[in-house]
Amino acid sequence: MTTRDARGRFITLEGIDGAGKSTHAAWIAQTLTARGHAVVATREPGGTPLGERLRGLLLQEPMTHDTEALLMFAARREHLEHVIRPALARGDVVLCDRFTDATWAYQGGGHGVDRGRIAALEDWIHGDLQPDVTLLFDVPTEISRARLARSAQAGRALDRFEREQAAFFERVRQGYLARAAADPRRFRTVDSSRPLTDVREHLAAILAEVA
Ligand code: TMP
Repeated sequence: MTTRDARGRFITLEGIDGAGKSTHAAWIAQTLTARGHAVVATREPGGTPLGERLRGLLLQEPMTHDTEALLMFAARREHLEHVIRPALARGDVVLCDRFTDATWAYQGGGHGVDRGRIAALEDWIHGDLQPDVTLLFDVPTEISRARLARSAQAGRALDRFEREQAAFFERVRQGYLARAAADPRRFRTVDSSRPLTDVREHLAAILAEVA
């Protein structure tokens, strides 16, 4: 990798399921492209052929919480090697739908995986690399759950995480908010319960500042 100043920007998107993150991801990519950036839009778990196979297991198969954390980092290791680091070295903007903050919030906050173990895995797999900017899409859990219920009613099969109880989502949300409060330089929290046009206006202002 080239020096930090020469490399591209690493932007991650986070939030609880049903926070509306995916609704905005394509628009953010288009906006960055229109600003003249080469954008690599990718996601976790996933982003590589092996990572997508691990995603299939993670979203469907029952497993211990520790296995879940280990597989998230296994997929991330592949993703960093084959997609994220090469793109940043080229000077591209990497727009990644979820990264290690999701492991802290879901496996740590939601499922109670030991924080020391998550910290050790993070240090091992990408101790030298953190996102430059993280957009946290925040909504009250009642709103996210109502959105998920509407998807389920419309016939979409919910995955293993989306089927979790309300208390789980509340722990995940609080996990995200705590991380944002602890690192205000990196995080930008977006109130995703507001109307689409308001959210886009806020996102446009953030993107103008960061990329
Ligand atoms: P997505 O639906 O936003 O693509 O994310 C898939 C699910 O994976 C979502 O419920 C959150 C979960 N997840 C974790 O639990 N830990 C992680 O480290 C990542 C990247 C995702």
